[in-house]
Amino acid sequence: MSQPAREYTIAALPGDGIGNEVLPAATEVLDSLGPRFGIQFRWQHYEWGCEYYQRSGTMMPENALDELSRHDAIFLGAVGAPGVPDHISLWGMLIPIRREFDQYVNMRPARLLPNVPSPLAQARSGNMDMIVIRENVEGEYSRIGGRLYSGTDAEMAIQEAVFTRRGVERVMRYAFELAATRRGHLTSATKSNGIVFTMPFWDEVFAEQTAEHPGVKTDQFHIDALAAMFVLDPARFDVVVASNLFGDILTDLAAAVAGSIGVAPSANINPERRFPSMFEPVHGSAPDIAGRGIANPVGQIWSAVLMLDHLGEQDAAAALMAAVESVLAEGIMTPDLGGTANTAEVTAALIDRLGAIQVTGR
Ligand SMILES: NC(=O)c1ccc[n+]([C@@H]2O[C@H](COP(=O)([O-])OP(=O)(O)OC[C@H]3O[C@@H](n4cnc5c(N)ncnc54)[C@H](O)[C@@H]3O)[C@@H](O)[C@H]2O)c1
Repeated sequence: MSQPAREYTIAALPGDGIGNEVLPAATEVLDSLGPRFGIQFRWQHYEWGCEYYQRSGTMMPENALDELSRHDAIFLGAVGAPGVPDHISLWGMLIPIRREFDQYVNMRPARLLPNVPSPLAQARSGNMDMIVIRENVEGEYSRIGGRLYSGTDAEMAIQEAVFTRRGVERVMRYAFELAATRRGHLTSATKSNGIVFTMPFWDEVFAEQTAEHPGVKTDQFHIDALAAMFVLDPARFDVVVASNLFGDILTDLAAAVAGSIGVAPSANINPERRFPSMFEPVHGSAPDIAGRGIANPVGQIWSAVLMLDHLGEQDAAAALMAAVESVLAEGIMTPDLGGTANTAEVTAALIDRLGAIQVTGR
């Protein structure tokens, strides 16, 4: 007798621009994959974002977080549109979700996928495979500070960074534990030569955690040198742990080295599972190509792989990642990777590839 499907209710937030192209592509792929692994997705779509803001004055309604809290996961496209200042779209939607749901781990894998050209001559598929763990709810992105004397020649702005022991310890512990399941190497991004309070504190906690995790080899570099090493020798990194700002910048760099920001995935995780976690590509809403049907859906679909993993569906996650790699290996890719396929063609190729998978008996 066939088992009843395992059901997941997922909040789907396409957001703005190409979010409205890559998110539907990914849900179509997931709907074709699900039944083969005994999974049923129940999608609840929310049309929040910049258009909603232009109509209502807020990026999402007042009860949005209550609504979202009822789901097993949140699947987001991208937010941001010309005409709405970026700090409004970010602080009106993404940051409240990350913070209210205590998604303090931002996991961003960067791997050079088959056939994807890197701008670096020496980078080849298989020799770059890292995960950046970015602290996601405190650090340099704080609302503490202010502006004074605007419009005068005494004008000034102050922005405070917030590093708490609880916040730094828990994200580092997550990174150490992740490194222990991989190649056993963790790198810390610091800047304790120039930033004299928060970064020496970051380094102290890293040293304490290193002593608690003797199975993991560690090193640390100032962020400027580390950025250069991401370009010169990306293969040396396994797991990298970084503060909110440093992790944000490093992961765009890692994505560029891995071929395109269009393939880069991310997971905003609440490891204790008290709240839903959120899965979204690293890229933004790409207004320059929105509406042309050529957005790369791989970043969104790889984010779906991370979501499946988080939901405990490892077989389905592995099958989906294998299908992505196989489609790319065949050269079916969007123009940002040097290909000629459009979003719909990449999506159709993935669905076709998944159709050939033997159904597992889980
Ligand atoms: N998480 C998010 O929702 C998020 C992240 C970054 C930027 N943004 C917002 O997105 C808007 C545009 O920002 P931006 O231009 O700095 O960054 P972006 O990531 O949207 O675009 C940068 C460049 O990469 C290209 N690109 C991005 N994703 C692609 C894809 N899937 N396929 C092919 N090409 C792709 C774009 O065409 C563009 O040339 C802004 O409003 C910004 O605030 C949102």
